[in-house]
Amino acid sequence: MAPAAIEVCQLTKDYPSVRALDNLNLAVRQGECFGLLGPNGAGKTTLMKLLLNLISPSSGSVHIFNQSVKNDFLRERIGYLPEKVKIYGFLTGSEFLDYQGKLYGMNRTIRKSRTEECLKTVAMYEDRFRRIGEYSKGMVQRIGMAQALLNNPELLLLDEPAAGLDPISNKEMRDILLRLKEAGVTIFINSHLLSEIEMLCDRVAILHRGHMVRTGTKQELTSQGEIIELCVEGINDQLLETIRAVSTQVKVEGNNIQLHPQDAKTISALPELIIKHGGKLLSLTTRMESLEDIFYRLIKEEENNHE
Ligand SMILES: Nc1ncnc2c1ncn2[C@@H]1O[C@H](COP(=O)(O)OP(=O)(O)OP(=O)(O)O)[C@@H](O)[C@H]1O
Ligand SMILES: [Mg+2]
Repeated sequence: MAPAAIEVCQLTKDYPSVRALDNLNLAVRQGECFGLLGPNGAGKTTLMKLLLNLISPSSGSVHIFNQSVKNDFLRERIGYLPEKVKIYGFLTGSEFLDYQGKLYGMNRTIRKSRTEECLKTVAMYEDRFRRIGEYSKGMVQRIGMAQALLNNPELLLLDEPAAGLDPISNKEMRDILLRLKEAGVTIFINSHLLSEIEMLCDRVAILHRGHMVRTGTKQELTSQGEIIELCVEGINDQLLETIRAVSTQVKVEGNNIQLHPQDAKTISALPELIIKHGGKLLSLTTRMESLEDIFYRLIKEEENNHE
């Protein structure tokens, strides 16, 4: 098994009015692409900041590449895209990256080549001499990503990299991350775009109000397998009651019913059952549980457990 890139042990972070993280344990292996998921306020950004030692834990420890994050030299090996990219608007994209390169202690030649390379990677080369204050939201996000890549990091920490990106840019961003993953870079990413996470990540962790709900591969988190989607005219209470008796997680929206069948027999019995209760079946489709379904299910279960 690859050595650990990130090790979080019994990590707790208290802010004056809220416990943002509660006794968190997590290990990410080198070369892994790991997705951190959670609703707003779950503690994702707080965890990112703790990984960078930008804030201190209330208790517990954080190690990166087997060293305490208190070791400042670790930063040389990490690239970070913050949730809110704050960049001096009066600088051009090129000037900003050059300035960042100086902070990394790079000499002029390396700064020039890395700046150009990273600007090309994020497709901002043509706009490099325009002021950042004039950039659109997505352009600022791309410059933020270029800044995260500047030092050729071994570990990339990305706090919502897709924020502000259009669907094409988003696909480009995913391709950049896939290339980095192939090159062996460890990626720790948090995003609300679950389909992106599903395409990119080897494993995910689901965080809810500072608690770790589950960690694992998508296969490990899928306990329910198939989902059936029905389009039915004439849905009535009796019909729904019968469906609920043979399946779980029944969701109804207009003419659509979504359900987890208890077994294969349930699926074949559904058309007859619907007709018997006066419904008209327009379509029946089967699909595997997506990461979005898993996320929704696990968060709902967590909320019900705490009610
Ligand atoms: N500087 C701070 N001072 C006080 N409380 C904070 C601070 N930063 C975060 N919090 C609180 O900690 C909790 C977790 O916030 P955090 O920003 O980590 O969530 P998140 O999962 O990143 O959410 P989002 O998806 O909205 O970005 C929230 O209750 C938030 O109000
Ligand atoms: Mg956040």
